[in-house]
Amino acid sequence: MNLIEVKDYEEMSAKAAEYLVNKVRNSPKITLGMATGGTPEGTYRQLIEDHRENHTSYQHVTTFNLDEYVGLSGDHPNSYRYFMNKKLFDHIDIQKSNTYVPRGDARDIQKECLDYEKLLEEKGGIDLQLLGIGSNGHIGFNEPGASFDSKTHLVTLTPSTREANARYFSSLEEVPTQAISMGISTIMKAKEILLLVSGEKKSKALAQLLNGEITENNPASVLKNHPNVTIIADYKALAAK
Ligand code: GLP
Repeated sequence: MNLIEVKDYEEMSAKAAEYLVNKVRNSPKITLGMATGGTPEGTYRQLIEDHRENHTSYQHVTTFNLDEYVGLSGDHPNSYRYFMNKKLFDHIDIQKSNTYVPRGDARDIQKECLDYEKLLEEKGGIDLQLLGIGSNGHIGFNEPGASFDSKTHLVTLTPSTREANARYFSSLEEVPTQAISMGISTIMKAKEILLLVSGEKKSKALAQLLNGEITENNPASVLKNHPNVTIIADYKALAAK
């Protein structure tokens, strides 16, 4: 794993955006795996700025998001589809029809999971997957204990993940209890992975990834088995290294 150490969140976001812009410019038809949450927001802001200033084009880019809450439709302000539209897609020249997020309001969730996985394969898979990490080591919504063989599947969120994400909702009760998430094996199939880590809340998870064993109890640890991972982490996240 290639580790890039940066000062703070802003520098992490700038570096990540620079990394992504280079990839998109070199491969205009790239398929990107997208993440949500607080971590990539700054990166998306920088991508928008770059698009305005330097006109990097996303016209031929395809994206697949990692996950979505079960029960929320794409126009729900807390859905990840809504997040992606508001924080990135609405502000760049990407074709919305080329952006995929699992449908959390699908009538048949199992079918939605299978269809999503199949679609990903049909589209040739992910070239570069952007990832954040949960403070318990989760990636996507693959919580500790998730099988390394898992594909896109229905997951039950742990209380700690629901609490961590409650800041976006008006109350903890409103945070969905389930989500659709790409599985660990889906994520591992990406040709390249870019993991962003910022802040002291993530320092334990990052230290466990860097120094700990590879185990399903720490989902992120699987990344050590991937041949092409870059981590951009700030000093606070690296404090426990
Ligand atoms: C969320 C998302 C993950 C994200 C992680 C960290 O629950 N499902 O994709 O990477 O938890 O979130 P944040 O970046 O807000 O700390």
